[in-house]
Amino acid sequence: MKGLNKDGVVILDFGSQYTQLIARRIREQNVYSEILPPETSLNKILNREPAAMILSGGPSSVYEKNAPKFDSQILKTDLPTLGICYGFHLLAQHQGGKIESTGKGEYGFAEISADDSTGLLEGISSPSRVWMSHGDRVSQIPDGWHTLAHSSNGVVAAISNEDQTIVATQFHPEVSHTAEGETILRNFLFKIADCVPKWTVRNFIQEQIEVIRKQVGDGKVLVGVSGGVDSTVVAALLHKAIGDRSTAVLIDHGLLRKEEAKNCTNALKDGLGVNIHCYNESKLFLSKLEGVVDPEKKREIIGNQFIYSFDRIANELGDISYLAQGTLYPDVIESGVSSGKTAHVIKSHHNVGGLPEDMQFKLIEPLRELFKDEVRSVGRELGLPRALIKRHPFPGPGLAVRIIGRVTKERINILQEADHVYMDILHEDGLYNEIWQAFAVLIPVQTVGVMGDQRTYESLLGLRAVTSTDGMTADWYRMPPETLTKISNRIVNSVRGINRVVYDITSKPPSTIEWE
Ligand code: XMP
Repeated sequence: MKGLNKDGVVILDFGSQYTQLIARRIREQNVYSEILPPETSLNKILNREPAAMILSGGPSSVYEKNAPKFDSQILKTDLPTLGICYGFHLLAQHQGGKIESTGKGEYGFAEISADDSTGLLEGISSPSRVWMSHGDRVSQIPDGWHTLAHSSNGVVAAISNEDQTIVATQFHPEVSHTAEGETILRNFLFKIADCVPKWTVRNFIQEQIEVIRKQVGDGKVLVGVSGGVDSTVVAALLHKAIGDRSTAVLIDHGLLRKEEAKNCTNALKDGLGVNIHCYNESKLFLSKLEGVVDPEKKREIIGNQFIYSFDRIANELGDISYLAQGTLYPDVIESGVSSGKTAHVIKSHHNVGGLPEDMQFKLIEPLRELFKDEVRSVGRELGLPRALIKRHPFPGPGLAVRIIGRVTKERINILQEADHVYMDILHEDGLYNEIWQAFAVLIPVQTVGVMGDQRTYESLLGLRAVTSTDGMTADWYRMPPETLTKISNRIVNSVRGINRVVYDITSKPPSTIEWE
């Protein structure tokens, strides 16, 4: 299937916290979408042959000096366009409308009433509940344009040019709180723009296979497998694209979960016939991590060592020039290298940020635009075992960021055992699949306990379990007390070195999911 990205949607990201949601909502309609930086030239956009363009929201005000720069030609295009919030102000201002910064915005739920129920707002009830998040408002709409809806506070909520090829909303149709947001987006995609709903998981796989074949030619690829679902999916995809010219390499850095290296290798080798080799590099990684306590330093060391190990292994395997890895969209944004914006760096997820400059490989990252649940669908379509697909996400630096402070062989063993008990019980109690991610954390604090008649002075273990859809935000999982009791008892009784267990009840934000 050629040109899956043709007839899709280009989203220019003016810095909204919801931009990736827009992309996702569109893909849920089986239309390809891609986020680009605001300054992308119209030419570059048109080269992608999109059916439509969306200008996202953003924190700036259009009159601000340091508002994001963009190519003003994009406002003159015939391409069907939807402006959302800041994008709405940009379009209105450019066409001669007026924007007012009163300081009195609308935040949260609002009701809108339609003034015109054709086109963008076709099939929408009036009033309808929407999600607003703006300080500025359009006080005068451009000449020749008309108001499609206004809010109960008298704010212009949606406008369009005469033939509704350019439309804009003050509210956020992409946010689930906008009751009829899906219909509004569908109206834009299919009634206003002629988007073609051909972005399905099957087509995505087919297209990626073609892209990989074209990119690689008759070259060879090394796939870095970490034991997690993302890299496993990449390994399966590469295998399907180029067969044995792709070699999956699982570097066991000694920081994986108990049995993880073996389970992952078996699933890929026996289940799918993937050409995979496991290398035990744990001594090397551990020696590099000796005495290191800073989380970002750990990430950097592990990230670099991964590449150096790959480099060496690649040399051993002979003339490999590509490295494929399972980078996902949230990794890209949280590492601050999003294609759309300069996001704040929270954690330098090692498979994005920590690459050494002298790396000899060209990168292949087929999942770079996807969210976790989309990757799981790809995995399902590729025939990966259910247990592997359903596996909770696991960070590249592995247990190193779950052992707070210094990483030693002994502490790894303790954490592996405790985490194993924790996961076993979640499976036993049928809770594993309700949770987005769960793991144990070894805390460098010793506390006093009593076992039998003996005083103990041993380590503290934290349990983390969160619900989430994409890891960008998360809530702590309301674990049944009986399960918590069972986990705590079994760990303290069976894992030597732990005498106290605590449960983490913070959400993200303000915390992050991992402790480091
Ligand atoms: P945080 O802790 O940033 O985690 O809320 C969000 C998701 O990302 C995973 N994570 C990582 N994955 N390398 C990775 O490959 C990393 O350095 C890293 N740090 C966090 C984390 O497990 C969660 O799923």
